[in-house]
Amino acid sequence: MHYLIHPAEIGDADVTVPGDKSVSHRAIMLGSIAEGATQVRGFLAGEDCLATMNAFSRMGVTIDRPDSTELVIHGVGLRGLQAPAGDLDLGNSGTAMRLMAGVLAGQDFSATLTGDESLTGRPMQRIIIPLTRMGADIGSRDGKPPLEVRGNPNLEGIHYALPMASAQVKSAILLAGLYARGATTVSEPAVTRDHTERMLRSMGVAVASRDGKIGLRGPATLRACDVEVPADLSSAAFVILAALLARTADIRIRDVGVNPTRTGLLDILTAMGASISLENLRQMGEEPVADIRVRSSKLRGIDVDPALVSLAIDEFPVLFVAAAAAEGTTRFTGIAELRVKESDRIAAMAAGLRELGICVEESDDGALVHGGHFGAGEVESFGDHRIAMSLTVAGTVADGPVTVRDVAAVETSFPGFAACLGDIGADIVCLRDESA
Ligand code: S3P
Repeated sequence: MHYLIHPAEIGDADVTVPGDKSVSHRAIMLGSIAEGATQVRGFLAGEDCLATMNAFSRMGVTIDRPDSTELVIHGVGLRGLQAPAGDLDLGNSGTAMRLMAGVLAGQDFSATLTGDESLTGRPMQRIIIPLTRMGADIGSRDGKPPLEVRGNPNLEGIHYALPMASAQVKSAILLAGLYARGATTVSEPAVTRDHTERMLRSMGVAVASRDGKIGLRGPATLRACDVEVPADLSSAAFVILAALLARTADIRIRDVGVNPTRTGLLDILTAMGASISLENLRQMGEEPVADIRVRSSKLRGIDVDPALVSLAIDEFPVLFVAAAAAEGTTRFTGIAELRVKESDRIAAMAAGLRELGICVEESDDGALVHGGHFGAGEVESFGDHRIAMSLTVAGTVADGPVTVRDVAAVETSFPGFAACLGDIGADIVCLRDESA
């Protein structure tokens, strides 16, 4: 499937976007190994989280789904999972694979985790090393999936200094730590999203967090609790940017998660001159949420502070679009991790933006993006949801039609994306064949 975008006037609107992907994954995983029933509202019914749900169902967890975004997870307790028959296919989801490897490390059975072409090309040594030190035995294909996780019910806690800032690796170790004897601590080189820590606390696990060190003691019992999932700031990012680039838009996005470990996007855009304010700031369970109000703004190029990278890790594709539309040059540094996401996001965005007439100079761990105007053109998503959505946003203010090819992956994180942008005035047609 492809998107055909014609330039259109984005206007004033009040919108919502789907639930947070990171929180939805964690609700299923932690709810499954908790004692009692976890009610989840606002669940992201995207392919990534559905893959996680399916995987836990296949390990004996009953999950009722009274509505597409509502779940009741009947937890089986820390030791209640059962060996699945056959491999667990996690599709496109790195979060599912890395966090589940942590859970599986402490089981008394083996399970094989696999995924699509993108996921089976992604680095897993980063979890294999610490989980092996804790006592699990993990087979891989040269550090890449499929992962055969041969669990060990007698894991030992470890102290581990993460070599890279990664919430997925941190979470994998903490989840294994729930099963391990003694203390498990992780120290991170930069702050990363802390949804695992927050949800574990709300389920009664004592998680300490100080000076970049996060720790817990196992074995730990999780108590089921209700989880209300905020709207995903990483999905709201595309609406925010479409509003900023428009001529006269004033848009409000409701109930968006604004956990400070996720809001680097807002800081970077504000430094570029964006008019963004948080209204109605409040708590949704353990997570802060707000309505985000965005008004069209003239953006200027900046040197993006590398200290904000881990707080905006999924937003760089859309920030490249902001930089391309800004006056002057924007310098991105310290973003090498982008090269091992669902695609090589530096290369993918550089290719797409160049196709639309923007000058981008790539380096190993960054890029210089020279602001300009988007022209008409045909661009590739490289099968990556965030590349597809970012280039679609560029298309809303291009001089002519833009075709974004191969957008099926948008379903992994933002079902209803094209309709949502349509609600604010964008003109996007989904083409289901090769006629694009
Ligand atoms: C995620 C962590 C980030 C992010 C991903 C979701 C999570 O990955 O890119 O989309 O839910 O923990 P890394 O931890 O690999 O940076």
